Amino acid sequence: MIETITSLAALRARITAWRREGLRVGFVPTMGNLHAGHYSLVQLAHQHADRVVSSVFVNPTQFGPNEDFTRYPRTPDADTSGLEAAGCDVLWLPEVEAMYPFGVELAAKVQVPGVSAVLEGACRPGHFDGVCTVVTRLFNQVLPDVAAFGRKDFQQLAVIRQMVADLHMPVQILAGEIVREADGLAMSSRNQYLSLEERATAPAIHRILMEMRASSLAGVPQAQVEAKADAALRSAGFEPDYAVLRRPDFSMPAPEAPGPQVALIAARLGRTRLIDNLEFDLPG
Ligand code: PAF
Repeated sequence: MIETITSLAALRARITAWRREGLRVGFVPTMGNLHAGHYSLVQLAHQHADRVVSSVFVNPTQFGPNEDFTRYPRTPDADTSGLEAAGCDVLWLPEVEAMYPFGVELAAKVQVPGVSAVLEGACRPGHFDGVCTVVTRLFNQVLPDVAAFGRKDFQQLAVIRQMVADLHMPVQILAGEIVREADGLAMSSRNQYLSLEERATAPAIHRILMEMRASSLAGVPQAQVEAKADAALRSAGFEPDYAVLRRPDFSMPAPEAPGPQVALIAARLGRTRLIDNLEFDLPG
């Protein structure tokens, strides 16, 4: 049976008891409205830890003023039973007051410069400061040995890795594969905002990412690949924020140089903003 914990004192007692038994603790932070992508992270964490804690906390500090914080889907019952079925041991449900005891305005903040500033960071100012601020707090609460994050939020994963390395946080970061619907759409809590018509259009993002990869592998120059992807998104009905090729460290790829690359897209479909990416290797 999964145990739901709502007070930090009870969480600390549970973690301390596990540590006394010599058990390794895994952690999967979430904002709830869970799907197969989240459950695969619980399973990944379990491969590296004896016990797994998952948190559900819709973090106000990572949403911009005109973003979807208030309408972000909250599905506590389904989340609890899904986490239990996935093998999660503890569901950590902090209150906003417990997470930010001095209030959101006076909260100590964690900022990772550089990688936080581009792409998602440029489109959503302050977003990664909010993510790093809450993930630091969650790590301090759960004290995990390992923590799992999905590759769908490719840049978030990079920001978290840099934060952990830079602040010497004693936690190993695991990266979970993107879980997709049968038609290629990356699973996301925000997919449920889509109308039926938008849902039918949304898999075009994955198709365009695959076209970006194919063009890049065929030696098409980066600027052309990106312009073609932007045009394809617009003609499918999206309003793209970006469609770019980057090295995994977010530097510009030199197309002729072999090595790892990632195609990244963020685009709006109606009121819904979707992100996705595709990692690949440019052979020498
Ligand atoms: O990826 C998410 O769901 C959130 O950004 C996270 C890591 C749970 C922090 O609120």
